[in-house]
Formats: sequence, structure tokens, C-alpha cells
Amino acid sequence: MKTISVKASKAYDVVIGEGLLPQSGDYCQRALGGICRLCVVTDDKVAPLYLNTVVTSLEAAGFDVFYYVFPNGEASKNTENLVELLEILAENRLTRTDALVALGGGVIGDLTGFAAAVYLRGIRFVQIPTTLLAAVDSSVGGKTGVDLAAGKNLMGAFHQPALVLCDYTTLDTLEPAIFADGCAEVIKYGVINDRPFFDLLKDGVKNRIEEVIAACVQNKANIVEADEFDKGTRQLLNLGHTVGHAIETRSDFAISHGSAVAMGMVIVTRAAVAMGLCPEADLNALITLLRAEDLPTECPYTDAAELAELATADKKRAGDTLSLVLPYGIGDSRLYRLPVSELEVFIEKGLTT
Ligand code: NAD
Ligand code: GLY
Repeated sequence: MKTISVKASKAYDVVIGEGLLPQSGDYCQRALGGICRLCVVTDDKVAPLYLNTVVTSLEAAGFDVFYYVFPNGEASKNTENLVELLEILAENRLTRTDALVALGGGVIGDLTGFAAAVYLRGIRFVQIPTTLLAAVDSSVGGKTGVDLAAGKNLMGAFHQPALVLCDYTTLDTLEPAIFADGCAEVIKYGVINDRPFFDLLKDGVKNRIEEVIAACVQNKANIVEADEFDKGTRQLLNLGHTVGHAIETRSDFAISHGSAVAMGMVIVTRAAVAMGLCPEADLNALITLLRAEDLPTECPYTDAAELAELATADKKRAGDTLSLVLPYGIGDSRLYRLPVSELEVFIEKGLTT
């Protein structure tokens, strides 16, 4: 078992271990400083697997618990469900001393965290991630939010959890493609700033799961502590995401987020090689590692102008320049300001094998 302290504007622990769900009551009691009412929020895939264990443990610890189950999938991360949840909290008379528990992947974590951020101008919440992506990324760092019709994550708030409880045995029930999606984010940390970690991943993410999750969480904690509100360094976490979002959108979301990020990382790294900034051997190492985790590396779309157009709809655009993350080598990624007018040529370089 490993515990990592995140020292953001509000400090909290991320506890990573095996078989932690049956102890969630005790962990929540310690993190919340006593007994209160809790609303556990989850989805209809996770509920039959883990809700009962969590609710039983919370009740055994003395909490007064109720729960709410949303349909699974990104489509649930919307304003209608946000308001529905807020109304449920109000009907159940949750007060400022009460709390929410997000049991699920990034969709449930983002939605529940945002409800906690705005209900009564902010109440506490606990993250219990059950996907690899949520364990290594979305449950840590306090970004919460929902999607708007105009795009993903356009409504949100920074609101740090009181505790992140990561029982990685829950990952055993994930569909392989969803586990692979999380692997893209894991590999991303190595490419950003940790070459030894990237090399360790050659043993296989599953074979070193506790060590891998802990390293990613520590890496994310360091980045969040340096730039909680996403003004600079934290943008490094967007490696592969700007082009990845364009690919996801172009596929009408038939290509998953993790697959699109994998392709996006290859595109920006290949472009960096073409610009003479990154050694070709590092591009090849990245492609090998992504393939070993069953992730695609080549983008099925070849129209650079179309991808550039879709990428510039991304909210990270500031005026006439884009903030891209470029690997100058594995473990050495840097923010790179690129004029929007040059993006098409940049993507063209990244698509050309
Ligand atoms: P998800 O929450 O939709 O989960 C993927 C699928 O796995 C769902 O069908 C879910 O029901 C199922 N599932 C979850 N846990 C399971 C388990 N243990 N066993 C079997 N099935 C399980 O998706 P995700 O990939 O976890 O998260 C994606 C979301 O995270 C996106 O909305 C993205 O915007 C967000 N995100 C947020 C941040 C952040 O910093 N807040 C960072 C990255 C991504
Ligand atoms: N996943 C991006 C961030 O937390 O900043």
C-alpha cells in the first residue's frame, strides 16, 4: 500500500492499495474528521460491482448514506445530470458538513466533483476511482466539470477532494480497451518528464500496477503543487491531447480518448523529430511501448488541414497561438507556442511516416 500527500491549496492523501473498498468507511471517517451524511454517486456499470461494498463499509463506520446511479458513459457528464444531482442533494437536505463520494471512472469523478464544488458554494467530496485513467489522472488535482453542447469540459471548477482512495483490484473488471485507454495517460507521464519511469513501463503496466499508479500520482501531485490553476506547467499534462481531441472529434467519438491521445502523442513526437528537436530513437521507443499496451499509433485521418481546424476549436487556444506540448526526448517535454497558421504544416509533419 502507498500513500501520497497532495499539497495543493487544500492538502489530501491519495491511498493506493489492494482491497481498500471494504475499508472505505474507516478511511472516509479519518479524512472527513467524523461522521456525517454521504451521497455516493456512481454509474450503472460500477454499481452492481462495487456499490454495495462501499455503502456497507460506510454505514458500518457510522455514516448516514444514500446513493445515486447515473447511466455509464461520457454522455452522462452533462448539465442536466448535474442539476438532477444537485436537486437530489437538496431534497435530501445535505448540509455544508456533509459530503459526496464519487465511485467510478473520470465521468463520475468529474460530475460529482463539480456538484460538490457548487452545492451550497462547496462541500467536501471523496474520489474512489475505478478506472486506470481515473486512478492515475482525473481523481487527483481537483479539475471537475461537465460537458456543454459546444464541447467537452467547458463548464467546471477547481475543487480538490478530501481523499482519493484507489483500490486497484477494481481494475480487474475493466474491459481491456478501457484499461488500454488508461495506459495512454500512464505512458504520457514518462514522456513528459520521467525517462526512468518510461523504461520501467517496458515490464508492462499490469505487472507493476501499484508502483505505476503511485508514480503517476506522485508525478501529477508535483505538477499540481507547482501549478494548481493550470497557468503553465500543468499544461504539460496535455501532451498529445490537442491533436488527440481533433482525432476524437473527427471520429465522432468512435475512437476512444486513450487511443486518440496515443495517436496524438505519436504525431507531436514525429513532428518534433522532423523539426530536429527530438531523437528518432525516442519516437520509435514511444511507438513500441504504446503498441505493447494495445494502443494504436497511426492516425486513420490524413487530412492535416481538417485536423488542424478541429484542433483549433480546443479551448487551450489563446489568440493566434496555440500552446502545444513537444517532446524534445522521452522525459523532456516542453511547452511550445505555435502560431495557429502553422498548425496544419506541423500536423502534416507528424502524419508523414
Ligand atoms: P468513464 O468514467 O466513462 O469509464 C469508462 C467505462 O468504464 C464506463 O463505462 C464505466 O462504467 C466503466 N467502468 C468504470 N469502472 C469500472 C470497473 N472497475 N469495472 C468495469 N467497468 C468500469 O471513463 P474514464 O476513462 O474513467 O474517464 C474519462 C473522463 O475523465 C472524461 O470525461 C474526461 O474528460 C475525464 N478526465 C478528467 C480529468 C481531470 O483532471 N478531471 C483528467 C482526464 C480525464
Ligand atoms: N488531466 C489534465 C489535468 O489534470 O490538468
